[in-house]
Amino acid sequence: MTKGEIIDLLKEKDEAVIENLLRYADQVRKEYVGDAVHLRGLIEFSNYCRRDCLYCGLRRSNSNVVRYRMTIFEIIAAVFEAKDLGFQTIVLQSGEDPAYTIEDIYAFVRRIKSEFGFAVTLCIGERTYEDYARLKEAGVDRYLLRFETTDPLLFRKLKPDSLYVKRFQCLDWLKELGYQVGSGNMVGLPGQSLESLADDILKFKELDMDMIGLGPFISHPDTPLQGSANGTIDMVLRVTALTRIVTKNAHMPATTATGTIDPEGRQKALQCGANVLMPNLTPRKYRRHYLIYPDKICTDEDPRKCRFCVESMITGLGKTVSRDAGHSLKSSFQQRKSSS
Ligand code: SAM
Ligand code: SF4
Ligand code: FES
Repeated sequence: MTKGEIIDLLKEKDEAVIENLLRYADQVRKEYVGDAVHLRGLIEFSNYCRRDCLYCGLRRSNSNVVRYRMTIFEIIAAVFEAKDLGFQTIVLQSGEDPAYTIEDIYAFVRRIKSEFGFAVTLCIGERTYEDYARLKEAGVDRYLLRFETTDPLLFRKLKPDSLYVKRFQCLDWLKELGYQVGSGNMVGLPGQSLESLADDILKFKELDMDMIGLGPFISHPDTPLQGSANGTIDMVLRVTALTRIVTKNAHMPATTATGTIDPEGRQKALQCGANVLMPNLTPRKYRRHYLIYPDKICTDEDPRKCRFCVESMITGLGKTVSRDAGHSLKSSFQQRKSSS
């Protein structure tokens, strides 16, 4: 699709055209990634962050956050629960927290890999090439780093202490090191144009991402963007569908943020391109403090409840729960793996 065609569909007013778009994306999803939905267990192990992203509730200037760091024992206990609940993949996410050295993370990843054999995904922000190389040695399989927006001016405004070029440099490094790499954006950021959303979609294709996570921007009351309008479900679904059509076989989660702005949001995303769900396995006493945006769903539910909830969501949509670890389907990943 050309940028012009994508912009036209993002602008389209005719509901019948949009319904067709979503339906077509669902067919593309079926053809390229099938009906099995992959589950990834999410563990949010620290909500400390050295950065001050304007959109995020965990930004360092937000003094209302009750900060926590999970110990290695708590992380291993959460991983044990993931095993018990039948997960094969876990995602370890945090703010950019310098208190965990690379050797600390190396140690707990090694333990998780050797004791549980999970596919391990990290989502811990921007690091150096050497850090990423060391974490690859530990056995980390995948890395998620959203570029957030392809608009360089908007990026600079919303992420004042990050560099746009560094963000993309990190994605290049991760690919070079043989990781399965995920990126993503937020839909409906204040000041975001439809043109830049079209650029985001084309960027996913250009970067040939193995995974793409996108969801609505949700305004947090304790940030400088308090009071801004949230992203809409309509736009999130359009972007999901267009991303599926353009990137074909990337793994795409139906995100928690999408489920937060619309109680049926994840189901809707799974019906127009998404093929992954990420139930939250963070211990309950910490989960309520990982509020990147307000009213996040599943902050009080037991992991067991979420596990069964997502299973019934999946079967209710006529899909199945994947029984494999859900590795990248990209042929370029196979080449990267053999050359790294
Ligand atoms: N600190 C790491 C980073 O920024 O890459 C990983 C954790 S960060 C909380 C994960 C993602 O949360 C970000 O990439 C961003 O897209 C999303 N996020 C942050 N604030 C948000 C908000 N207000 N609404 C929706 N998503 C948000
Ligand atoms: Fe920190 Fe990530 Fe939030 Fe930015 S989005 S403040 S880097 S946790
Ligand atoms: Fe948590 Fe449904 S996934 S209650």
